[in-house]
Amino acid sequence: MRQSIYAIVAICVFSAELYSQSAPSNSQAEKAKIELGRRLFYDADLSINGTMSCATCHEQRRAFSDGNSLHPGALDDPGKRNVPGLANVSLYKNLTWAHNHLSGLAEQSFAPIRGTDPIEMGMNAHEDEITKRLGQNSCYQKLFSLAFSEEKGAINLGAVSKALESFEKTLISNDSLYDQKMKSKQPLPTKDAQAGKKLFFGAAKCNSCHTAPLFSDDDFHQVQPQNQVAVNKIKDNGLSDVTGNPKDKNFFRTPSLRNAVLTAPYWHDGSAKTLTEAIQKHDVKINQALSEKEINKIIAFLQTLSDTSFITNPQYAKPSQECPY
Ligand code: HEC
Ligand code: HEC
Repeated sequence: MRQSIYAIVAICVFSAELYSQSAPSNSQAEKAKIELGRRLFYDADLSINGTMSCATCHEQRRAFSDGNSLHPGALDDPGKRNVPGLANVSLYKNLTWAHNHLSGLAEQSFAPIRGTDPIEMGMNAHEDEITKRLGQNSCYQKLFSLAFSEEKGAINLGAVSKALESFEKTLISNDSLYDQKMKSKQPLPTKDAQAGKKLFFGAAKCNSCHTAPLFSDDDFHQVQPQNQVAVNKIKDNGLSDVTGNPKDKNFFRTPSLRNAVLTAPYWHDGSAKTLTEAIQKHDVKINQALSEKEINKIIAFLQTLSDTSFITNPQYAKPSQECPY
């Protein structure tokens, strides 16, 4: 009971936050931080051999996910998990597929830049190289000074991660057809989408984990059928790899279904190619043994969660070479 009250409070806070996003602060320092973060997000100089930026794996047109099951790192280390989209990522307290004490976006960015399991951008033990490379660029010198005047514009991994966080906080997706119709209290445009919505929030119980408005409860669940867990080829036990508690084995954070049509393939290991497969992969106790027709209706509903303005917003796109300052 207590837990459910907390859950309701948490959901209300989420929805207030998602829909009350105002324009980011007007202060010159904050604006510079966001612009700096965007430039860094698209800059392959953050990888050891200059081949890979954040955007190599997080593509705007795919709601900041990519089209691979797993994405190898800059040095061809095989990826371990499917690249998640970054819509509304600042509203989660549990970041990545399975971590219960990683909540800061600045801290998270250390994982791709200098992490070793797997190696993504390969900057482990080469952090000085970041200072050297970025320091040679006069636009970066200006942006770091404006954004971090209290640190006298020092260029280092700490400042890089804070700027990335400022940019990622602007990645808000709340203008899908579903949001528009909900605001104007109108039904969805097709019968199938409307029927799918009813199933999603009703008999199929999808909303109990993929909770609106984020379409994720930001919590961990084990949803694979027991007999398939053993088939997992990549050694990835989900949350128990972090907590050490065997009870958390194969628990993963519920992925958001916003923009799901754009983020194939699916599941933490990218093993589901289509939305149908992704839904059918849940244990039958969880997907309620839905018929193919019912699944198609739910997919018609999921299509209304795509946010065109999010994937075309020029403020999230690769910046031009020209220095804005
Ligand atoms: C090689 C591909 C790759 C690159 C490059 C990459 N990422 Fe990721 N990103 C991933 C994968 C895979 C995950 C999921 C990791 C996990 O669950 O352990 C992820 C997760 C994330 C998350 C958490 C999302 C969530 O839903 O909780 C954020 C934020 C993020 N990345 C930001 C970045 C930033 C910023 C950069 C650049 C500094 C970057 N990524 C570079 C593949 C990549
Ligand atoms: C008990 C919680 C729970 C319920 C109920 C649930 N899901 Fe999920 N769903 C998850 C989790 C957790 C994952 C990630 C599984 C993994 O990768 O191991 C997931 C994955 C997905 C994915 C893949 C998304 C992606 O980006 O990889 C889709 C699509 C999906 N669910 C749709 C549905 C639909 C539709 C329903 C209702 C029929 C539903 N789910 C019911 C927890 C749930």
